[in-house]
Amino acid sequence: MSHQLGVGLYGAGNVVQEAHAPAVAATAVTRLAAVCDIDQARAEALADSYGGASVYTKLADMLADPSVDIVIMATPNNLHRRDLEACARAGKHVLCEKPLAVTYPDALEMVRICQEHKVILKTGFNQRYLNQVRMARLAIESGLIGEVFSFRTVFSAKWDNWVDGSNFRWDLEKSGGATTNDNLIHRFDMIRYLLKDDYAEVVADISHCVIPPVVDDNVHLLVRTARGARGSFTADRYSPVLGDATELYGTRGSLSFWTNAGTPFFDVPLAINTTVPMSELPEVIRKAVYPSARSKQNRHVWDGWLSLWPQRNEWDTYAEQLAGMAQEILTGTRDGIGATGMDGARATELVHASYMSQIARSWVPMPLADDAPFAIPNFEKKAALA
Ligand SMILES: NC(=O)c1ccc[n+]([C@@H]2O[C@H](COP(=O)([O-])OP(=O)(O)OC[C@H]3O[C@@H](n4cnc5c(N)ncnc54)[C@H](O)[C@@H]3O)[C@@H](O)[C@H]2O)c1
Repeated sequence: MSHQLGVGLYGAGNVVQEAHAPAVAATAVTRLAAVCDIDQARAEALADSYGGASVYTKLADMLADPSVDIVIMATPNNLHRRDLEACARAGKHVLCEKPLAVTYPDALEMVRICQEHKVILKTGFNQRYLNQVRMARLAIESGLIGEVFSFRTVFSAKWDNWVDGSNFRWDLEKSGGATTNDNLIHRFDMIRYLLKDDYAEVVADISHCVIPPVVDDNVHLLVRTARGARGSFTADRYSPVLGDATELYGTRGSLSFWTNAGTPFFDVPLAINTTVPMSELPEVIRKAVYPSARSKQNRHVWDGWLSLWPQRNEWDTYAEQLAGMAQEILTGTRDGIGATGMDGARATELVHASYMSQIARSWVPMPLADDAPFAIPNFEKKAALA
């Protein structure tokens, strides 16, 4: 295998144009080998804009191309499970966009298939690579907020905020959902990643309230984790502003951050309150602190609040994610950040369990059975009940 890994883009839609194609170009150890999309003109236009690459309209043809080492799978959600097996059989490593699959059994099967064929499967939870998330994880690992027993997170984004090229999100057959498994799933992964904990139980209220397509546009979940933390996830798809906040409350302090966009309510990207003395803070955090006052002795007067502005890297996260995966393929060493296939399955498990809870109108314990029954709730009916 050469030092530069060839990437085949499967799907040439919005996230590939905006994020993955630039990431392949920005990553030293990858190069664009091929683009595959049923829309040939879209695939050709993308390949041309990066100086040329092989263009395919059938996955089997791209998989027969020996210059492709990694497939970045960014097609509509319902196709991820269907197409993964062919990639694995062809010996291609796969970076699959979130959600890994629509159902938990499908996600588990994808993990199993990749293990069987000894290829690496990663899930596209690029937000793990945001600098404020990296620093939040460091802060939690360093004990700055102690043990977390309470959290809440909100993700509000208008339905036309991120336009997909094929409108698949509003077709539940293709997407499996438009808010819970599209936006909120980033947070399902994020909280697991930060707390190093798993979900043990969920109760959901998922409804359609506003937007023209009858999909989930107003989502409220309560969860308990295996270690006994309690938290809430809320998301909507109708409010014009991007509402984006996560708060974690621990025995030694608290921490709040946003991922993409701030509001006057949450006005710094990362805020930590800790009872740990400043001298004991990890160096990278201590050096990012500018206390609001100094004492006569020229010492920092510090009330425990750390307001941090980590360097913004929103669009670099895709390249950092790809570089981490390439390093794993080339050296066998994980970067400790990138989401595995099993991380993707765990996030999909919470989507699946939330839908079960919505249908049953009760708490649903996890882990789910490997063959847990799946159905998309009748969101319209729920709105009528409200
Ligand atoms: N990580 C993130 O934050 C993020 C952001 C956006 C999208 N995504 C995920 O990426 C995936 C794609 O989303 P998008 O917004 O780019 O959608 P999109 O509709 O813009 O792109 C999908 C592409 O797949 C192509 N396609 C459809 N059926 C195909 C088939 N059978 N064979 C080959 N190509 C086919 C379409 O022609 C289209 O070009 C979804 O799973 C989505 O959840 C992730």
